[in-house]
Amino acid sequence: MRNREISEMPLEYPAKIALVTGASSGIGLAITHMLLLKGWSVYALARREFTLPEGSGRLIRVSCDLLDPKALRSAVDRILDEMSALDLLVNCAGIGLFGPHEQLKPEDLSEMLRLNLEVPILLCRLTLRALKASKGKIINISSVTAEKDSVFGCAYAGSKAGLSKFSKSLLEEVRKSGVGVSVIQPDLTRTEFYESLDFEPDADPAAALLPGQVADAVAYILDAPENLVVEELTLRPQINRIRRKNTGTTRHGTPVPPS
Ligand SMILES: NC(=O)c1ccc[n+]([C@@H]2O[C@H](COP(=O)([O-])OP(=O)(O)OC[C@H]3O[C@@H](n4cnc5c(N)ncnc54)[C@H](OP(=O)(O)O)[C@@H]3O)[C@@H](O)[C@H]2O)c1
Repeated sequence: MRNREISEMPLEYPAKIALVTGASSGIGLAITHMLLLKGWSVYALARREFTLPEGSGRLIRVSCDLLDPKALRSAVDRILDEMSALDLLVNCAGIGLFGPHEQLKPEDLSEMLRLNLEVPILLCRLTLRALKASKGKIINISSVTAEKDSVFGCAYAGSKAGLSKFSKSLLEEVRKSGVGVSVIQPDLTRTEFYESLDFEPDADPAAALLPGQVADAVAYILDAPENLVVEELTLRPQINRIRRKNTGTTRHGTPVPPS
């Protein structure tokens, strides 16, 4: 049981099994919580420890740095080895780098592009056989910037545009096998995503989504009838307003240049 911790087992073993990345925080944590409440077994990948209130499901935390190719491969191999089936893959882990493109560090850009685009593509590759066997689903968490030009977030938007395009292309490739591929494109959502950035959603509740609202979109996709695949869902808050942290000034649009 190296690198992992298994929580209390419920009396009744749940039937559906999910693999969720980015499960320790924000949107991924909310999705994991929703799945546990619905009775799923969730293999939750992240580097950090985290806790969740008990649902009727089973939480299996797997500590893994997704940017370490060997650790990623061995985590997935171990999970596929041990579970009877896989019904759902949620690619949620991601980071954002914002600022004038010429000022961003090449090594930081490389990490973001790998985490936001390469890792989800690899995870789909590594789990597709199991998902085909169960006629399961893939849900990729992209961003509204996949389709919206993003000044000072060009590379982030590029990584998310790539993820959205990959998701839609993969759906065309695998839909005849009964696998559903969906992409969710949230706009500003109140999470730790903004902790290292110099802007954040405005405090007005109408200026940002809550992580649970993205989890509700995942639940909607999962509850869809068998003949229906939700290809893409874009979620936007009612108003579009961000706050610059150092000055407290607000403006419409996202993102803002670093100070
Ligand atoms: N918040 C927004 O406004 C917003 C809007 C649109 C789209 N999104 C997308 O939503 C997704 C989730 O973001 P969030 O807002 O929930 O941010 P968050 O709260 O910062 O969560 C990011 C998650 O990614 C994981 N992660 C980061 N680097 C990792 C690594 N090297 N290995 C393994 N896990 C790693 C983190 O886990 P550990 O640190 O524990 O490893 C954490 O669980 C991202 O793909 C983001 O691009 C967010």
